[in-house]
Amino acid sequence: MTTARAPGRVNLVGDHTDHSGGLVLPMAIDLETVVTGSREGDAVVLESEDVAGEVVVPLDVDDPAATGPEWGRVVAGVVAVARPEVGFRGRVRTTLPIGAGLSSSAALEVAVALALGFEGTPLELAQVCQRAEQLATGVPCGIMDQLASAAGVAGHALRIDCTSLTVDAVPVPEGLDVVVVHSGEQRRLDRTAYGERRAQCEAAASIVGPLLEATLDDVATIADPVLRRRARHVVSENRRVDDVAAALAAGRLDLLGDLLSASHASLRDDFEVSTPALDALVERLTATPGVLGARLTGAGFGGCVVALAEAGAAVAGWRVRPAVGASVV
Ligand code: GLA
Repeated sequence: MTTARAPGRVNLVGDHTDHSGGLVLPMAIDLETVVTGSREGDAVVLESEDVAGEVVVPLDVDDPAATGPEWGRVVAGVVAVARPEVGFRGRVRTTLPIGAGLSSSAALEVAVALALGFEGTPLELAQVCQRAEQLATGVPCGIMDQLASAAGVAGHALRIDCTSLTVDAVPVPEGLDVVVVHSGEQRRLDRTAYGERRAQCEAAASIVGPLLEATLDDVATIADPVLRRRARHVVSENRRVDDVAAALAAGRLDLLGDLLSASHASLRDDFEVSTPALDALVERLTATPGVLGARLTGAGFGGCVVALAEAGAAVAGWRVRPAVGASVV
């Protein structure tokens, strides 16, 4: 019997920065997906305790996107990238809300890859799973979700430099509650919009060079107003990652509110991935006693908001703790 587990993640700050090699600050959370079973046969056969339908993926699968039921697409993606020599028969269970923006699909990919016998560093594991997600969904995602799940450190968020792929653990103070609140809008990670935003960042970088090194003065020279706003989001958001990481490390919780508000405003106005429901939720949470700050988290276009609050603040949502990354147990 093999049991592999992988956590979901919430991103504290640094959204839509990973796909242009920028900085992100996610943390693996104490909600996770577990795959249990045995390595046998010539297909990967999984049932889920949470979603209907059996997934059967032949080891030589060539079009993961065509696999059904839908949750099986990323399983097929992992098989297509990792190419295990032996199949697997088992079950999946999860404590993660599915499709809510807490990276349930990255957790499934990482747990499946480990269950199938993947051996390598957390970074290599994340790279396999990122490729699997891209193949399965057609969304040209960055590496944040899979790397947070693979490399999580208990009690810490991860500052990831998506150019050098270095990961630094940043302590999350005990007295801070991290609460994830759903906007009520099912997140549609619209392929066109995500791919279009990524392409716009690439176009901006072809004008001013890598956005991680660009300054706001460089960005101001971009003639096209849309590309200029997209790049301004990324360049300013990269700085906020370092500012939030520094504030957490120094226990300066008083600095978090303005940084999170600025991040949300930048995602709303410059990157244009917020929605009226997310904006209203951020506004309501920001005005709630005990809440230090709030912003949309993840890709946007619906989904969740993350609020940082004083311990015990009256905020309804998923209270998550920074957790250790994926493992075979
Ligand atoms: C999704 C992608 C990530 C990242 C976020 C936005 O979660 O999978 O790679 O780009 O959106 O920060």
